[in-house]
Amino acid sequence: MRHLMSPLDFSVEELDKLLDLANDIEHNPEKYSHACTGKKLATAFYEPSTRTRLSFEAAMINLGGSVLGFSSADSSSAAKGESVSDTIRILSCYADICAMRHPKEGAPLVASMHSGIPVINAGDGGHQHPTQTLTDLLTIRTLKGRLDNMTIGLCGDLKFGRTVHSLISSLVRYPGIKFKLISPEELRLPDYVRVDVLDKNGIEYEEIDKLDDAMVDLDILYMTRVQRERFFNEEDYIRLKDYYVLTKEKMSKAPKDMLVLHPLPRVNEISVDVDDDERAVYFKQAQYGVYVRMALILTLLELA
Ligand code: NCD
Repeated sequence: MRHLMSPLDFSVEELDKLLDLANDIEHNPEKYSHACTGKKLATAFYEPSTRTRLSFEAAMINLGGSVLGFSSADSSSAAKGESVSDTIRILSCYADICAMRHPKEGAPLVASMHSGIPVINAGDGGHQHPTQTLTDLLTIRTLKGRLDNMTIGLCGDLKFGRTVHSLISSLVRYPGIKFKLISPEELRLPDYVRVDVLDKNGIEYEEIDKLDDAMVDLDILYMTRVQRERFFNEEDYIRLKDYYVLTKEKMSKAPKDMLVLHPLPRVNEISVDVDDDERAVYFKQAQYGVYVRMALILTLLELA
């Protein structure tokens, strides 16, 4: 039985196959519409979510399966003090696969050790978010035609943004990848990614404060929101929350073929007037999230 805790749980070859499957699902949805008949997905979400939980649910429904679950710790027995290891034992009796989001780093990993069904990490604290990475990779590969030889600007909260940590870990496996890490000093990439992933793999990167300076030669600009819920004090959040705002005016200076991605939710970091720009692909990205989660469910249930 296989779980998904980190994007590195799949080799580059396996990932390619998964993304190929997601592209096939996009173009031939009817071929897959009964692939999971009789199967159940449990969504165990101890933290808020719109896209991740609902795209998992949509994915399972599109495959002909059913879904059950909870969308907050308050509405589960966690509120009575039940551990994740007990909860997953129970969910293993009710479902065939589980997507779990938890505010504590490593909680889905603990669950996977006690589980009778595949567990997918749907975001663990400020640590990892592998299915967002699968979504990002599918978006980039489909719209750019490649995952190698690219300069990627990551902008915003690089400290607490788990999507950034997972995306970097995954992209360093492709040749010719360079990063521009655009953040205020206080929200820089943590050492467990900068040193252990970038330096260790000899990846070229720059840490930059100004978005305008960084934008001129990017293939991808990956915007992120400042992660309010991970701050120790609200004053710091208020001071940093609007540090970057991508506007139409800024976009006019960016390369013609630079794509703008964002895992969403957006707060203020992308002005709504950028949405009409054809380089702004964050809503399309959310749609790709459904195809890739369909491909993932099929792969982990060994139905692909
Ligand atoms: C992200 C997350 O939960 O980390 N959202 C998502 O799953 N698309 C990004 C965020 O919350 O900022």
